[in-house]
Amino acid sequence: MRKFIVAGNWKMNTTVPEGVELAKAVAKAAAEVPANVELVVAPPFTHLYAVAEALRGSKIALSAQNCADKAKGAYTGEVSVDMLKSVGCEYTILGHSERRQYYGETDAKLVEKVKLALEAGLKVILCVGENLDEREAGKHFDVVKAQTENVLFNFSADDMSRIVIAYEPVWAIGTGKTATAAQAEEIHRCIRSVIEARFGKAVADDLTILYGGSCKPSNAKELFQEPDIDGGLIGGAALKAEDFIGIALSF
Ligand code: PGA
Repeated sequence: MRKFIVAGNWKMNTTVPEGVELAKAVAKAAAEVPANVELVVAPPFTHLYAVAEALRGSKIALSAQNCADKAKGAYTGEVSVDMLKSVGCEYTILGHSERRQYYGETDAKLVEKVKLALEAGLKVILCVGENLDEREAGKHFDVVKAQTENVLFNFSADDMSRIVIAYEPVWAIGTGKTATAAQAEEIHRCIRSVIEARFGKAVADDLTILYGGSCKPSNAKELFQEPDIDGGLIGGAALKAEDFIGIALSF
């Protein structure tokens, strides 16, 4: 069964006390959200322990925003999948465009990270998406297809049951410019067909594909009505409980 998910990527925002407040507000408002919509929050690493406590007893899943590409050892400043698991993470986001753009995250590195995350029992939200130049050059399908294949074709059909894909056109992230529902849907359909060609129809049908990029309560409904858009990865609007829950109520 395909799952609907609304995930909040807090990025490098909030202090720990602010994050705990936000998590509590989200947990409180989450009662209104239909049971078939899963809520996920992805605070910064420093917040995970405290936010896990704040979410205790709620159905909201905890996610990291990234993980190390090594299991353990002398890698100063890195955070391992076992650490994430031990603090109560169920998911990790991987391959966000900000990681690809500013921190040199490559598809090859992402293969290592996805492998480690799955082995540790985490689920993965893998981000793909073209930048503005690529879209203007008409290369958006090719870019997204290549990112999807380069990473996920190293995994099995079984692994795919613990992977969510987030399509985030880079030109729509934090810009207030949302892809139209039709623009998003055609890419989501393309991603699903890439997955179907490799792993079969059942895997493709079950795959959750999220849209991300200036998604907010006012445009979520139109996006989520599309047959291949199964929820959202939310940045800015996830920093206000009311907006985040407003998006989750848009199904
Ligand atoms: P945004 O970010 O909602 O602020 O555009 C989305 C994301 O980067 O995940």
